[in-house]
Amino acid sequence: MTVMLIRATAEWQGLRRVGRTVALAARAMANRLRPGVTARLDAAGDRAAPRRFRPATAADQRVIASLCKSSIAATYGPFMNPDLMRPWVEGQEVEDYVAGMWPRMTVAVRADTVLGVVAVEGQVIDLLWVRADLQRQGIGSALMDRAESIVAACHPTAELECFAPNQAGITFYQSRGYTAVRTYFETASGVDRVVMTKPLGGQAP
Ligand SMILES: CC(C)(COP(=O)(O)OP(=O)(O)OC[C@H]1O[C@@H](n2cnc3c(N)ncnc32)[C@H](O)[C@@H]1OP(=O)(O)O)[C@@H](O)C(=O)NCCC(=O)NCCS
Repeated sequence: MTVMLIRATAEWQGLRRVGRTVALAARAMANRLRPGVTARLDAAGDRAAPRRFRPATAADQRVIASLCKSSIAATYGPFMNPDLMRPWVEGQEVEDYVAGMWPRMTVAVRADTVLGVVAVEGQVIDLLWVRADLQRQGIGSALMDRAESIVAACHPTAELECFAPNQAGITFYQSRGYTAVRTYFETASGVDRVVMTKPLGGQAP
């Protein structure tokens, strides 16, 4: 999915940078999909309720997958081939990823509504996704705070990956102190990926 998902997206294979025509096609695809996908998301929830964070449970799997799928095309469409993105948007790739990773996920919730998710595996922050209509409200930052605390308990450095053309993601991570250590071309996706790290000062076990 780095979701697209950070390194998770390394497994979310099959995407290629294309031009404006493809971006528009992806956007159209997103619009076609949005009603069905968002219908599976909870409503906005009680906005007066406090926001909290908890480990994901098996019962969260469906809504986590829907949360990500509802904005994959909008997030990656400008630089990914919609044909190659389709298995993630329309198929079961995201569900399969979440099924394997939910025990390593933390969710942000308000009342019973899932607002965003982060996944940590070892020193790698593998997925970070905030519901599209709730971005720029500090939820991603708060999830990253928790993810970095988890990593710092056992590792001195946090690592993540982001698609190079995902400028919003790169800017977000840079603002948190991550620096690019390597860029590589991912053959399966046709998109450059940036590996970023941040020293946390944690101690190896
Ligand atoms: C990237 C993402 C996780 C950020 O989460 P968020 O909750 O929207 O981010 P925050 O509100 O905590 O933002 C904190 C700061 O990061 C920076 N930032 C966040 N989103 C940004 C954007 N789209 N463009 C530029 N800067 C951005 C800003 O400095 C922001 O502070 P400000 O809002 O006071 O200006 C979220 O936009 C998202 O889920 N995107 C889709 C999935 C994705 O790209 N994941 C990460 C890469 S795989």
